Amino acid sequence: MLVILMGPPGAGKGTQAERIAREFDLLHVSTGDMLRSAVKDKTTLGEKAKAYMERGALVPDELVIAIIKERLADTDCAGGVLLDGFPRTVEQAEALEQVLDDLSLKIDAVINVDVAKDELLNRLTGRRVCRGCASTYHIKFNPPRVRNICDHCSGELYQRSDDTVDTVKERLDVYSKQTHPLIEYYQRKNIYHAVDGARSIEAVFEEIAAYLEKSKIKGN
Ligand code: AP5
Ligand code: MG
Ligand code: ZN
Repeated sequence: MLVILMGPPGAGKGTQAERIAREFDLLHVSTGDMLRSAVKDKTTLGEKAKAYMERGALVPDELVIAIIKERLADTDCAGGVLLDGFPRTVEQAEALEQVLDDLSLKIDAVINVDVAKDELLNRLTGRRVCRGCASTYHIKFNPPRVRNICDHCSGELYQRSDDTVDTVKERLDVYSKQTHPLIEYYQRKNIYHAVDGARSIEAVFEEIAAYLEKSKIKGN
């Protein structure tokens, strides 16, 4: 199975991806997480991506397409993949189709989680992420059992450097201009499903899981 999870910054892609990947035994592939670890490790890719990410802009298509192409060819992707944060431009979506064609794979479902702008701002500025396993929390909406400590790996929680009010506003703008047009791109194919993300984490999860359960049956 290959599933794409779309949505604006803060919609809950990462939060849902963690749960969906576990439930459906898919590998969670997040370009945001891959890029953040490249920045942390100061790799060539990280050095190139850093400035774009810090100002809330998209990293150039050719860099992101190259890492996804390499990642999807890895053997651990054979069991099924959940893509989080990719594609984000029409150019990336077209490149993905080419990559999947070459691997004889196809997209089974595109899930778009949508949430209004004001709520996104609240979610992102209160988000905390685990340094160890990248699990996502929120100081109010989804707090860890112990303050600042990850429930899963006991890692320390931190605030992403792009989660400041100004950078979040820029990211939301970039989303409207560059990523929102992708909705129409996928709506034309009959694999698109929109989910109202302004509900509880559990309610959103239930809807996505039910939809994927159906697509899985259809696909078989
Ligand atoms: P990326 O890491 O992908 O960030 P993003 O798309 O901006 O999305 P977020 O991770 O911020 O939000 P999310 O939807 O995952 O929400 P989350 O589950 O954490 O990308 C970062 C940067 O990398 C980009 O700006 C760009 O520079 C670069 N990049 C990445 N991919 C790229 C690509 N393909 N092309 C070019 N550049 C790329 O939830 C948010 C908060 O809300 C959390 O605190 C969570 O606990 C809480 N929450 C979640 N669900 C709910 C709910 N239902 N109710 C209440 N609270 C909730
Ligand atoms: Mg995320
Ligand atoms: Zn952790």
